[in-house]
Amino acid sequence: MSDFRSQTLSLPDQLRWAGRLTVPDIARPGSVLVAGMGGSGISGDFAAVGCEAEGVRLEVVKGYRLPAWVEEERPLVVAVSYSGNTEETLAVVEQASTLGLEVVGISSGGALADSDLAHHIEVPGGNQPRASLGYLLGSLQRVLVAASILPDDGLAEAAAVTAEIYESFDAGPLVEAVANRIVVVWGGSDLTAPVAQRWKTQINENAKAPAWWSVLPEADHNEIVSFEALASLTSSSVVVVPLRDREDHPRVDRRFQHTRALTQRGVAWADEVWSRGDGLLARMLSLTAIADLVSLGLAERYGVDPESVALIDELKQLLKES
Ligand code: F6R
Repeated sequence: MSDFRSQTLSLPDQLRWAGRLTVPDIARPGSVLVAGMGGSGISGDFAAVGCEAEGVRLEVVKGYRLPAWVEEERPLVVAVSYSGNTEETLAVVEQASTLGLEVVGISSGGALADSDLAHHIEVPGGNQPRASLGYLLGSLQRVLVAASILPDDGLAEAAAVTAEIYESFDAGPLVEAVANRIVVVWGGSDLTAPVAQRWKTQINENAKAPAWWSVLPEADHNEIVSFEALASLTSSSVVVVPLRDREDHPRVDRRFQHTRALTQRGVAWADEVWSRGDGLLARMLSLTAIADLVSLGLAERYGVDPESVALIDELKQLLKES
């Protein structure tokens, strides 16, 4: 197995690693702000789903500025950056520290580890950030348990479900259905929306191919009509992948059926991909594990190196120099 493939497929072990972490108790905040970009920031989008279920707002900042509401609400700030050197995340940490907000850092080292924070969790280094989701999201879940927001981190079940998918899910038919097409991933709830985003970014970064994501019901109010004008092009070059969860609203279930029937002349549709497991995290990560297999399968088919993200590295270097 190539190194990057085994890094990616070590997600269950990473989740188990995080499950063994000891995080000191944190006073329960009224809200949480996660700062992070790309493969690190997505951990905030996933964790927000569990916080929402517990009635706690978790907002993710993917940029340079703290939102204005933090001055009054004074959330717990969690900065997630695998390298610990991402400039947007460090800028947010600096502003949060100036305001005297409690900041917890999660990184494999870098400037974030050297900052003066309330607490820092050091995750194992040497991976690509996007192949470290289990370390990053797992650590964030542990922080949210330590802050008495989540009653349970959900990591053991998520590890078991993802391990089973890596072992037994045959991604071949899905790879076949989406290969050589632009992939449009549609979630159908707050739970599958961040997963659809992760599908997109895994296809972008691992397979070096274009992909987009949206969520129903919103897409039914705009995107549904986008496969008309260029139907002869989109019907052969774009494919919708519907991500489904058993708690999708019953009207969303209907919407998927009708939307498929109404658009199938203008766009191809893959079979529905259903989440597995009981807990929110396991269900999200079950679909994420399938995205890993599909994006790695596409990379192999396209003959590209799934690990390298040369343009991202080059851009970071250019920005550092300017
Ligand atoms: C690379 C990747 C990127 C990085 C992003 C932020 O594998 O997924 O999206 O995650 O450039 O860098 P870090 O994660 O080091 O803060």
